[in-house]
Amino acid sequence: MWLNYPNNPTGAVATMEFYEEAVAFAREHNILIAHDAPYCDVTFDDYNAPSILQVPGARDVTVEFNSLSKTYNMAGWRLGMAVGNAQVINYLSTYKSQMDTSTFIPVFDAGVTALTSDQSWLNERNAIYRERRDILVEGLRKAGFTLESPRAAIYVWAQLPNGNMDSMAFCSRMLEEIGVSTTPGVVYGQHGEGFLRISLGQSTERIREAVQRIENWKY
Ligand SMILES: Cc1ncc(COP(=O)(O)O)c(C=O)c1O
Repeated sequence: MWLNYPNNPTGAVATMEFYEEAVAFAREHNILIAHDAPYCDVTFDDYNAPSILQVPGARDVTVEFNSLSKTYNMAGWRLGMAVGNAQVINYLSTYKSQMDTSTFIPVFDAGVTALTSDQSWLNERNAIYRERRDILVEGLRKAGFTLESPRAAIYVWAQLPNGNMDSMAFCSRMLEEIGVSTTPGVVYGQHGEGFLRISLGQSTERIREAVQRIENWKY
């Protein structure tokens, strides 16, 4: 069973109780949980994302994945990790060692430096994302969207105004009419229909500009 919290695209977060239930379910049905958790260090408002491995005994039925892409702004460097059930880690290790010729050693060295250096800059970086989130949440609400303010990850997930259920057409019009590019929720699956996703990866100034255009747009 694949899980992903904090979630892309919704920004939803999971509680310890949720993870406890998931682990109990995996035990009962003899299945493996693969938890993809690359946003666990991109959090706001004093929120700390728990690891599913904090659940007692989770390691018997779980592997948790992480990546340096988000926490350390190393997207494209192709460095990540998996922790959990030893047998599964062995399988992954065998598979990975046969699929490619490992990672360029200087990239490993950069990863070690990222993981072992002073981590306090992460708070400053997260504060930048938080400011962008706040600009977007406030502006989108003013413009008629319904949304929760995410406590983690780098996405704002908003319900389209007026019960609009054609996210593809809505986002295309937004792009063509005001030059703002967003992702239609339906590309993430049928349950994403009626929503759109906006990334916090653009500069704060560009996000401000986009919000201004959306607020002034007569959709
Ligand atoms: C939930 C999730 N998992 C994995 C990835 C990919 O991470 P990586 O850059 O390590 O391939 C992303 C990137 O967008 C993501 O959102």
